[in-house]
Amino acid sequence: MAFSISLFVLLMLLSLQCSSSLLSLNKGSSLSVEKHSEDVILSKNQMFCAGFVQLAQNAFSFGVWFNEPHTNNTNTLVWMANRQQPVNGKLSKLCLLNSGNLVLLDAAQITTWSSNTASHTQVTLLLHDDGNLVLRDSQGTILWQSFDSPTDTLLPGQPLTRFTQLVSSRSETNHSSGFYKLLFDDDNVLRLIYDGPYVSSQYWPVPWILIWQAGRFNYNSTRIAVLDSLGNFTSSDNYFFSTNDYGSVVPRRLKLDCDGNVRVYSRNDKSKQWYVSRQVIFDACSIHGICGANSTCDYDHERGRRCSCLPGYRVKNHSDWSYGCEPMFDLTCDGNESNSTFLKIQGVEFYGYDHNYVQNSTYMNCVNLCLRDCNCKGFQYRYDGDQGFSCYTKLELRNGRRSPSYNGTIYLRLPNGNSFSKVESVRVDDHVCSVMLHKDYVRKPANRFVRFSLWLATAVGALEMICFLMIWSFLIRTRQKSCADQQGYHLATVGFRKYSYRELEEATKGFSEEIGRGGGGVVYKGILSDQRHAAIKRLYEAKQGEGEFLAEVSIIGRLNHMNLIEMWGYCAEGKHRLLVYEYMENGSLAQKLSSNTLDWSKRYNIALGVARVLAYLHEECLEWILHCDIKPQNILLDASYEPKVADFGLSKLLNRNTLNKNSSFSMIRGTRGYMAPEWVYNLPITSKVDVYSYGIVLLEMITGKSPTTSVQSIDGENSHNERLVTWVREKTSGTYSPEYIIDPAIKTNYDEFKMALLAKVALKCVKEDKDARPSMSQVVEMLQSHESDPLKY
Ligand SMILES: *[C@@H]1O[C@H](CO)[C@@H](O)[C@H](O)[C@H]1NC(C)=O
Ligand SMILES: *[C@@H]1O[C@H](CO)[C@@H](O)[C@H](O)[C@H]1NC(C)=O
Ligand SMILES: *[C@@H]1O[C@H](CO)[C@@H](O)[C@H](O)[C@H]1NC(C)=O
Ligand SMILES: *[C@@H]1O[C@H](CO)[C@@H](O)[C@H](O)[C@H]1NC(C)=O
Ligand SMILES: *[C@@H]1O[C@H](CO)[C@@H](O)[C@H](O)[C@H]1NC(C)=O
Repeated sequence: MAFSISLFVLLMLLSLQCSSSLLSLNKGSSLSVEKHSEDVILSKNQMFCAGFVQLAQNAFSFGVWFNEPHTNNTNTLVWMANRQQPVNGKLSKLCLLNSGNLVLLDAAQITTWSSNTASHTQVTLLLHDDGNLVLRDSQGTILWQSFDSPTDTLLPGQPLTRFTQLVSSRSETNHSSGFYKLLFDDDNVLRLIYDGPYVSSQYWPVPWILIWQAGRFNYNSTRIAVLDSLGNFTSSDNYFFSTNDYGSVVPRRLKLDCDGNVRVYSRNDKSKQWYVSRQVIFDACSIHGICGANSTCDYDHERGRRCSCLPGYRVKNHSDWSYGCEPMFDLTCDGNESNSTFLKIQGVEFYGYDHNYVQNSTYMNCVNLCLRDCNCKGFQYRYDGDQGFSCYTKLELRNGRRSPSYNGTIYLRLPNGNSFSKVESVRVDDHVCSVMLHKDYVRKPANRFVRFSLWLATAVGALEMICFLMIWSFLIRTRQKSCADQQGYHLATVGFRKYSYRELEEATKGFSEEIGRGGGGVVYKGILSDQRHAAIKRLYEAKQGEGEFLAEVSIIGRLNHMNLIEMWGYCAEGKHRLLVYEYMENGSLAQKLSSNTLDWSKRYNIALGVARVLAYLHEECLEWILHCDIKPQNILLDASYEPKVADFGLSKLLNRNTLNKNSSFSMIRGTRGYMAPEWVYNLPITSKVDVYSYGIVLLEMITGKSPTTSVQSIDGENSHNERLVTWVREKTSGTYSPEYIIDPAIKTNYDEFKMALLAKVALKCVKEDKDARPSMSQVVEMLQSHESDPLKY
């Protein structure tokens, strides 16, 4: 018995490689499911197999997968004929009929799938080297091919067209169609759509921005997107990216995963492991439908993505969070307004389903608007800068996300008299579909063949580049016209474009007006051809290859936070590397501090805004980003003194596991006076270096004393900030009373409680021991915990 089980296991393992196999299937012949380990079609280069693959007990599918040795029972499936309807493990077969039709028959000999083809001549089914399963006749005409009906995966060279779409699988083990789709929409734009059982919505590009702001075109009706063999993805709507391992020819596949994100996986030739070389969405909770209605999504690096029910709600189906949460109360709506109350939840956002939107609304206005409407489930109340507070009343609570960096509040409508505490909200890991992210930068030296193909690709690429530039100059001209009348770009732009060096040279009048100088390069003022004012940073040296630079720049270009300076584009030509940012007329925090124009409440608001954006960078993006050069010069202010953090010249996208000063950071350091002790003592670099610098900036905002100029010293570079820290510690010992340390420019006109809180937080942030410092989201929570409001829970 034991022997037969181990034999079975052995057979199972063997079945995953194409051991004995055919090169093609001709008219009148068939593959049978019982012989699924032998009856497989192999591509000439032995890279792909086609055949029956076991999905579950007695459930098989006919598909194409990577031919690779396995130790665990998983195939890298890239295509399936019958994903919705697996066939029986007995008597099922794939037949190439004499009529020329390819059919998949179930045990009862019922047709489960067919190619719907017909031909009188000889017909052959074969698997091409690129993984395309092709049915062709004797003249070589292709009657049918698997590349025309993708499931959830695109292989290099396989185009996504107007006729095709990717549909995610339901879960990692259930391959039937799930809720996410990647497709070209009616307006020619490539989109990701959540198409759930009750609702559907677009979540990429983010729905609240215009197409051109996302860097896309909608006038190109070609509708074609393709990943090439070097790792470049291009789409006819101007969306593009390069993988992190761009340039090397390795096996790759682009997959719409069951969590709604699109990832490119590459295979390491040595370890034979797949790793994520690129993903399209950086902000895990911006994907719709994960947590269902009446719940919120939150993400952090340690715990991953989680769902939790709102207070007063309970989870509907513990094994599937997409069902959402249902109310534990019954809100009768009889026109009696006193039976409702509102629970304030800070830092929580619900997107969509707004019944009313009122700008510059008072809190009471918003409450009354919601009370008058039986279907109102609550309202979103958010400070929108110049426009005052905005009110959005909600018909449904969907696409909820919790984020300390979000600058708004939801007021949840609950029946009066019930006290729903936080305790009743259940938190469960999102186990329905979790995808582990790990990066692997191991690069093999290219062998001769690869070098030749690279050379070939470069030669072809150069030709393409010439065409590309010609098309570009045309597109830029047409684009200007269409954008000229849309100057209201106050909305967050997540798109960016490529600029030519000449264009930027003209914009800056030959790099004449210098406005700043940072670790990585010099910043110039420029006016772009569309009349927008820009800050253009010219990096000193092109140390990175173009692919690497592009991969990094496009990640930064897609970050989107109101307290982050916007990046509009870049230039990578020859040895030139430039970044194009929005220009902030009102200068930096450093200037405003030295000219004494900031009262205490502005300083507090700036502290909160900077903390929010750092929390976003550290904790909410799937890519882990450290700024590494937080200082008042890099905190710019807009007309309403909202802070915008700038200068990612020194930032680095990091893999949590390769955090090692020697590898990633040998070159990169912050600015004297703001640098954490880890730099000096050669300790591991973590997000706590930003926390430290942030703490020093807080101390500078409170005291008005700069850590770089306060005291001249001779004993090492860290002693300036140490002196400032020690001075503040001594003055505030025990009490945190701000009166002895406060910037004389503020005089006595300040909220003592809030300034004391600021000092307390600052001193926690500059603790010598990095583990004793709080995380940025804890800082946000501390700073907003005392915004006086009786409704807070
Ligand atoms: C897979 O998901 C589909 C759709 O939700 C469901 O009908 C089917 O029963 C599931 N199959 C398995 C094996 O769980
Ligand atoms: C809960 O979800 C699972 C998995 O999708 C499903 O099989 C089951 O029928 C659901 N239960 C209810 C009560 O909806
Ligand atoms: C969400 O809650 C509302 C009541 O506030 C309820 O009417 C609705 O059915 C809930 N949604 C789901 C999916 O249970
Ligand atoms: C907002 O409303 C207040 C009072 O209703 C008014 O004084 C103020 O000017 C308004 N602000 C804007 C930006 O409309
Ligand atoms: C900020 O910029 C606006 C617009 O350019 C200007 O009107 C305002 O005076 C500036 N404020 C400060 C404090 O520089």
